[in-house]
Amino acid sequence: MSPQERIQELSKELREYNYQYYVLNNSLISDYEFDLKLKELQKLEEEYPAFADENSPTKRVGGTVADGFNKVKHRYPMLSLSNSYSKEEISEWYDRVEKGLGKKPKLVCELKYDGVAISLNYKNGKLIQALTRGDGESGEDVTTNVKTIRSIPLQLQGDYPDDFEIRGEIFFPLEHFAELNREREKNGEALFANPRNTASGTIKMQDSAVVASRKLDCYLYFLLGENITVKSHFERISLAGSWGFKVPTEDKKLIYRTDNLDQLMEFISYWDTERKNLGFEIDGIVLKVDDLDEQDELGFTAKSPRWAVAYKFPAEAVATILEDVHFQVGRTGAITPVANLKPVALAGTVVKRASLHNADQIEKLDLRIGDTVWVEKGGEIIPKVIGVNKELRPTTAKPFQYIQNCPECETELVRKEGEALHYCPNENGCPTQIKGRMEHFISRKALNIDGMGPETIELLFDNNLVQNIADLYVLRKEEVLALERMAEKSSQNLIDGIEASKQVPFQRVLFGLGIRYVGETVAKILAKKFKNIDALSKATFEELVEVNEIGDRIAESVCAYFNEEQNIQLVERLKEYGLQLEMDDAELAQGTKLDGLSFVVSGVFNLFSRTELKKAIENNGGKVASSVSSKTSYLIRGENMGPSKLKKAEDLGIKMISEQEFAEMIA
Ligand code: IVH
Repeated sequence: MSPQERIQELSKELREYNYQYYVLNNSLISDYEFDLKLKELQKLEEEYPAFADENSPTKRVGGTVADGFNKVKHRYPMLSLSNSYSKEEISEWYDRVEKGLGKKPKLVCELKYDGVAISLNYKNGKLIQALTRGDGESGEDVTTNVKTIRSIPLQLQGDYPDDFEIRGEIFFPLEHFAELNREREKNGEALFANPRNTASGTIKMQDSAVVASRKLDCYLYFLLGENITVKSHFERISLAGSWGFKVPTEDKKLIYRTDNLDQLMEFISYWDTERKNLGFEIDGIVLKVDDLDEQDELGFTAKSPRWAVAYKFPAEAVATILEDVHFQVGRTGAITPVANLKPVALAGTVVKRASLHNADQIEKLDLRIGDTVWVEKGGEIIPKVIGVNKELRPTTAKPFQYIQNCPECETELVRKEGEALHYCPNENGCPTQIKGRMEHFISRKALNIDGMGPETIELLFDNNLVQNIADLYVLRKEEVLALERMAEKSSQNLIDGIEASKQVPFQRVLFGLGIRYVGETVAKILAKKFKNIDALSKATFEELVEVNEIGDRIAESVCAYFNEEQNIQLVERLKEYGLQLEMDDAELAQGTKLDGLSFVVSGVFNLFSRTELKKAIENNGGKVASSVSSKTSYLIRGENMGPSKLKKAEDLGIKMISEQEFAEMIA
């Protein structure tokens, strides 16, 4: 079998496994076997790029980094639906439709998926373009990211039209959303608030490999195109299913066709309670007139079709008793009030705690212990207290007093003018802050110390082995081994992890110091600008605010940090132990030569492998994009490069260079 034939055979097999698994829920092959086949295909495509298809199953794993998304006009505008919030309003809509048509309409009931709308364009059975809704007139081209969603077919099957559009909703399955947040919690990262916003953010991420890892899913609900003869919406959806799309099916009651108003109301009531068992979020039910000619007859208002309507479920809120309020202390000393509630079932979970945000919020609600409060779960993970039922207030309930001292170390709290939060100022004595800072220091995006987590910090701190981050670097294995729960191997891992962290680059160490308002991006900017910790520690407020993207708040915080003698000593110790507190020469040289330039790499190369080439671009501050656009600065042209890329680059007048020319650029 020729390589080309093998590529085609493997692509076909993998496509079928994908479809069976992600659309039909059938597992025909083990993950291991699937990966083996995928790797074989990847290897062949690398060896014979001329035979590699833009829509190969290997594109599912992502790996290309987009430099922004092009705005593209929608072929048909993407309208929204008018919303109804009661069954009466639905009845009224039904009456209007009946009156408009002069007969009882057949209606299709569907779920209103709570995600992000997407419009997919297929030509000759291949996914060509995926656009977000944008302003309804034009959207952003997120094709590369959408290709990583396994339930969206890249190559259709069956008898599909040559050219059509299909629309649907990309959503975050709850199981994968929870998994992502668990992982983030473990790494000390901020949790995502809700699946919908996270899906929407994910689809616009630059790195498609991250999109692939998020395991988004997509249901399709609207088929458009000139050459489709079927004139029933319901039948069009099932037709799309036969081409390989994930569409709602009757067997799971995800879609239902009826001309009976009572049955329609039943569908709404059924899903209002059943939605908690779905595995993804819906925020209502959509009703559509089935017959496309009838749809035409009814037409559109300025913003939405008259032939469809959305019934929105009411936001879920329950009443329960506020038993107590406790206060959490963060690593920066920020105090967060949390309501302790009498446990109550809400939207599929038992809620015991809810956020109260800050002192102002508590005052606004006029909250008292013993009050009956309304708790809402508006898509956020942490429910919030949204109101008080004052009629049920016990006569004994006393107005709530905000704490004045830190619940952990008793220090008097401070609240700066204009700030919503109270802070514990005892940075170097408050155990919760000290441990919090150490947890941040070892977290993945900072020093990423292997073999260490919050429990280890707790253990080391409670046993007086570490009081601050510098103490980690004088820890001895025997000391660790002597602790409860620490075995030979885990102790060695921990010591090795600490040792390895000495190679972590300056900007991550700076981020790890946990200076208030110095997040990952700010740390990177400061490291690049000041090049080493000494220069940064001596920088004045004026010098700091001169740096692009550094405002008063950050500058003030950096100055305050380096004004503390204890912090200066800490940094000195870190320096002494060999941590990276300056940008190394290679890093300094990097990031400038190709700053602001965007490259597309295509074809086969001799001097570099494709991976090396991409690395070299990024190491020199350039960006790698997967497709040629007006934003492309250079196309690095290898042998056998794809004809479509070549044509596009020529059409757009993009500069093409050879790998030799590129090597000279970075020399
Ligand atoms: S049909 C012309 N069907 O709701 C009508 N939309 O405000 C096209 N949505 O932006 C939309 N589930 O993102 C339709 N089963 C469904 C839907 C649905 C969710 C979203 C869609 C749209 C918004 C309408």
